[in-house]
Formats: sequence, structure tokens, C-alpha cells
Amino acid sequence: MVPVYRKFWLVLHIVSASAWIGVDVMVAVLVGVGALSDDSARRGLAYQALGSFLVWPMLVSGLVCLVTGLVLGLGTKWGLVRYWWVAVKLVLNVALCTLILLLLRPSMPEVAAYGRSLSAGEAVTFDVSSLVMPPVVSLTLLSVATVLSVYKPWGRIRQLGGPGGRAAQRARQATAKSAARTP
Ligand code: HEM
Repeated sequence: MVPVYRKFWLVLHIVSASAWIGVDVMVAVLVGVGALSDDSARRGLAYQALGSFLVWPMLVSGLVCLVTGLVLGLGTKWGLVRYWWVAVKLVLNVALCTLILLLLRPSMPEVAAYGRSLSAGEAVTFDVSSLVMPPVVSLTLLSVATVLSVYKPWGRIRQLGGPGGRAAQRARQATAKSAARTP
């Protein structure tokens, strides 16, 4: 990829990854306020904001991060499954977007409704413990992805047919043995 295009996609990639982390921090703050504040109007507002606004920015930034990562992987020497640090990030990104779509999004209308009831002063109960894990898991995995991006550890993934792969190693061992047996 031409350097000027690579830089363009890299900027988009870093901005979307940062936006994703930022939305996660907002989710963590709102979950904290909702759980810990002693003012029920404030708790209600926190749950309303959480339930109404945050899933789509989170999903969009996650998907933009995924698409720009795919473009960078395919357009540079890094590939998608050539280096461990890229392949692990790919798995993390897809897993997190799937969790947002399948686990987080369906529960959000209930969270917003709970917030509205709290703001209206109604005596309602709702199990909010399930809201703690998503920002914790997501922030942890996105931090891992950021560390992988900067340190780029573990090197290349060995391919079965490649020069360092197991099939190639077995072939080299077999050749060496037969050469040793030949008088
Ligand atoms: C999971 C969330 C992700 C985060 C937080 C993240 C973060 C980053 C950051 C901060 C960089 C800049 C590193 C540097 O320039 O030293 C980067 C670069 C890169 N990322 Fe990601 N990334 C994520 C997902 C992905 C995915 C899914 C892919 C590919 C499938 C990917 C592929 C790449 C590639 C190839 C580069 C290097 C680009 C280059 O230098 O040419 N990333 N990423």
C-alpha cells in the first residue's frame, strides 16, 4: 500500500480504536453512577443514558476499527493471519463486536426503561449486576489489543506448508535421514 494511504487508514484505525475505548469508559462511569449514587434521579439519568445512547457508538467504532484493521492487514506486510499479534486482534475485535450485538444490545431497552422509572420516583427493582462485566471485559481486551499493536509480540504464525512449517520440517528430517542412510 502506498505510504500516504497507509497513514490515512492507520489514522482512521487509531481514532476508531480510541473512540471505542472512550465509549467503554463512558459506559463504566454510567454503570458506576447508576450502582453507587444515592440520588435516585441521578441513577435514573445514568441508566437512561446507558440504555438509550451508548450501544450504537460502541458498535460503530468497533466495526470501523475492524474494517480499517482489515484494510491495513491486507494492504501491508502484516497480513491478517501472518503474524500472531494481528490474528489475535482480529479474533478479539470480532468477539467483542459479536458480544455487543448479541448480548449487550438486546438488554438496553430494559435498562433505559428502568432508568425512566427511577427518574419518575417509582419503586422498581432490576438486577444491574450484569452491567458490570461488559465494560470490564471490553476495556481489558481493548487494552490487550493496544499492547499487542505497540509491542507486536510472538512473531510469525507458522504455516503448515511454509518454510518454517511442520510439514516442511518433517520433509527436511526425512531427507536428512535418507541422506544419512545412503553409503
Ligand atoms: C481490537 C481492537 C484494536 C485496537 C485497539 C487496535 C489498535 C491499533 C493501534 C494503536 C495501532 C498502531 C500501532 C503502531 O502504529 O505502532 C494498530 C495498528 C495496526 N492494526 Fe490494529 N487495533 C485493533 C484491531 C485490529 C484488527 C482487527 C486488525 C486486523 C484484522 C488490526 C490490524 C492492524 C495492523 C495491520 C496495524 C499496523 C498498521 C501499520 O503499521 O501499517 N488491528 N492497531
